[in-house]
Amino acid sequence: MTPSERSAFQTAFMTWYDENRRDLPWRQNQEPYRVWLSEIMLQQTQVQTVIPYYERFLATFPTVADLAAAPEDLLMKTWEGLGYYSRARNLQKAARQIVDDYDGHWPTTAAELEKLAGIGPYTAGAIASICFGEVVPAIDGNAFRVFSRLLKIDADITDPKNRKIFYDAILPLIPEDRPGDFNQAVMDFGSQICTAKNPTIGDTALAPFFRSYQDGTLLDYPVKTKKAKQKPVAMFAVVIRSQNGVLFQKRPSTGLLANLSTYPLVAAETLQADDDELLTPEEQLARIEAHFQEAYGLKLQQLHESGLKPVVHVFTHLKWTITILQAQLAADAELAFFPGQWYTEAQLVDVALPTVQKKIMARLATD
Ligand code: ADE
Repeated sequence: MTPSERSAFQTAFMTWYDENRRDLPWRQNQEPYRVWLSEIMLQQTQVQTVIPYYERFLATFPTVADLAAAPEDLLMKTWEGLGYYSRARNLQKAARQIVDDYDGHWPTTAAELEKLAGIGPYTAGAIASICFGEVVPAIDGNAFRVFSRLLKIDADITDPKNRKIFYDAILPLIPEDRPGDFNQAVMDFGSQICTAKNPTIGDTALAPFFRSYQDGTLLDYPVKTKKAKQKPVAMFAVVIRSQNGVLFQKRPSTGLLANLSTYPLVAAETLQADDDELLTPEEQLARIEAHFQEAYGLKLQQLHESGLKPVVHVFTHLKWTITILQAQLAADAELAFFPGQWYTEAQLVDVALPTVQKKIMARLATD
């Protein structure tokens, strides 16, 4: 952008913010404790969900010293429902760093803030600009979307090396007297106007500045070439035998492997009471027994790990690592509440089985 174009953009962008900024509880003042808390909560949770938690958290722990001294169970209880509990643990760690290492005084630059637990470049930029007026970008998904579309930046946003390209492009656009408002304008414009699927830039005075809007390529940005990595998922396959054969479960008519039959599969995550609960292998087996009892009225006998190497199976978005368990069931067990049936070896020949099931059977055949 030429200097005059840049100045016109800044004026139009800050005017848009002044007229459209959301009235959010963490915008009442620039206390770093309040701003920091909001940014951590907003990392993985929507604004509307965060608001009541934010108010409750501040009422429970009004200062950084209160948070540093909080008993763990009260901290977790206050965070309950927001998920990703490591955020709450890091929050307390950072609070203790502030109290112990910084004498209760917040560092005022993004570079220093990044040394605190749970604070990455985005959060550091947000706090430094909003609370301390540092001219520094806060680059999250909103910023990638807004500036790739504004300037037609075609660097792949999934490649961490390209963050610097955005940093260098955004920095000169920040008005020196309002860096915090600029970054919050990006958040609001990005989440309300310059959205991923239905952007409405054409309805705003910013339209003339958006190069990709001008040439009709808006939705080609941001560029993401790398496929999202498959999410790792821990599963159990329970091989249940009786005198009638082996028990197969028919999967629901929608979703992954719809309508296909497999050994009963249980996601390890569904056994946990919350994200952070760590279960020993014994506890996992006990929860699986309880699950079969509660969900299907089936009493598994001699449930144990097979000792076989887990089977790894990759879907488009998921990577299952399947631990094979074995159990027995009485031949006259009541299957009325179980979505499946017994199969003998001979009957199985006629059943269409998904690849993942065949892989588990092949692993069992090596036993
Ligand atoms: N998303 C992340 N940080 C935000 C903020 N400070 N205001 C609104 N939305 C946000």
